[in-house]
Amino acid sequence: MAENAAIDTAGAESGAGVRRRDFINIAAVSAAGVGAVAVVYPLISQMSASADVLAESTTEVDIAAVQPGQAIKAVFRKQPVFIRNLTPAEVAAANAVDVTTLRDPQTLQERTKEGHENMLITMGVCTHLGCVPQGAGAGEVKGEFGGYFCPCHGSSYDTAARIRKGPAPKNLQVPEYAFTGTVVKIG
Ligand code: FES
Repeated sequence: MAENAAIDTAGAESGAGVRRRDFINIAAVSAAGVGAVAVVYPLISQMSASADVLAESTTEVDIAAVQPGQAIKAVFRKQPVFIRNLTPAEVAAANAVDVTTLRDPQTLQERTKEGHENMLITMGVCTHLGCVPQGAGAGEVKGEFGGYFCPCHGSSYDTAARIRKGPAPKNLQVPEYAFTGTVVKIG
């Protein structure tokens, strides 16, 4: 009997041990479940952009007053944008370039919208290290290729805002945009 009692006691301890382990496992799984919910919720809540963020993601500019030879600066997603109405001579200068000789080969046509080839819209951010090039403001230096000049390290862009000289690797970026009458919506 004593031996049986010992076995029963051992069995009871063993059963209790299993129950304890089950409880620990269940508790661990539950904690993991809570953790997963806690982690997933902020990700989902971040994916639904607020109205403020959506409003900031586009910029609308009426360009009716921008005459040939003039440019204006706008702001798109907190970065400068240059909107430039090219003169016929500036369009001709851009089209006269042999595109195969360019560091970042692109025609003016590829960088503008059909029917609006004179309206060049680019980010005002140098593709070298992000300075704001000169050339969009009245009286600013346009550089030796007549487009934009970055004073930080001397990159020169032509009248299609293509990189022609200096350390910048790429043309000034053309953002997504569309015309509605005289209004351009960027973004
Ligand atoms: Fe423009 Fe370096 S940031 S040339």
